[in-house]
Amino acid sequence: MGRRKLVVGNWKMNGLRAQLGEVEAIGGVAAEHAGVEVGLCLPATLITAASAVSGAAFVGAQDCHMKDSGAHTGCLSATMLAEAGASWTIVGHSERRQDQGESDADVAAKALAAKAAGLKVILCVGESLDVRDAGDAEAIVSAQLLASLPEGAAADWLAIAYEPIWAIGTGRIPTMEAVEDMHKALRSALAGRIGEGKAGAMRILYGGSMNGDNAAELMAIEDVDGGLVGGASLTAAKFAPVIAAA
Ligand code: G3P
Repeated sequence: MGRRKLVVGNWKMNGLRAQLGEVEAIGGVAAEHAGVEVGLCLPATLITAASAVSGAAFVGAQDCHMKDSGAHTGCLSATMLAEAGASWTIVGHSERRQDQGESDADVAAKALAAKAAGLKVILCVGESLDVRDAGDAEAIVSAQLLASLPEGAAADWLAIAYEPIWAIGTGRIPTMEAVEDMHKALRSALAGRIGEGKAGAMRILYGGSMNGDNAAELMAIEDVDGGLVGGASLTAAKFAPVIAAA
């Protein structure tokens, strides 16, 4: 299928200028693994400075507004983020869906705004523990993906990240079989919407407590095309083994 692995760190609300050395070091690790696409989605305050030192790693944002400008105090448009130096953005992370009440329609609109500004997009989906325990995870997450999917979804500007909410920052991960089944289900849902060919080209990342110890096994799963990594991306020492595992 020829999908190049994509490994992206999401620093969330972490990182000051004092951590730019880590960005530079991660860029160095990325250069040693040219077969893997590596990036860091950083706090917006670091994007410009990080872009100057990130080398082979791209710099991205963690969210953007769905409008390009206007009366939206405290928000940042995709165009602003692109001008600051971002080439990618995350949309629909579960922390924003929960904390900021973002709907599937908001997420799709944000993805389109990002595309219009020339950003590539990582669109996040994932289930709560209740949904997992009820045995509904694949159906619910597939529906969430289709409801959040922007018009014109295609692998040249969009990647999907499956992040089970209960695995984020907890040290717990689903079984490898559950990850495999979910990624297959998501690709099949995509195929139903955009066709087999486009769905086959789309990268579907796993996120949630991925680290140097479990990354190789996770990324060896056929439909796992990389990782969206939180805690283990904050230093080059922790992130390097994840990148190497891809
Ligand atoms: O977006 C990445 C994330 O939510 C996973 O975080 O810390 O569990 O790797 P973490």
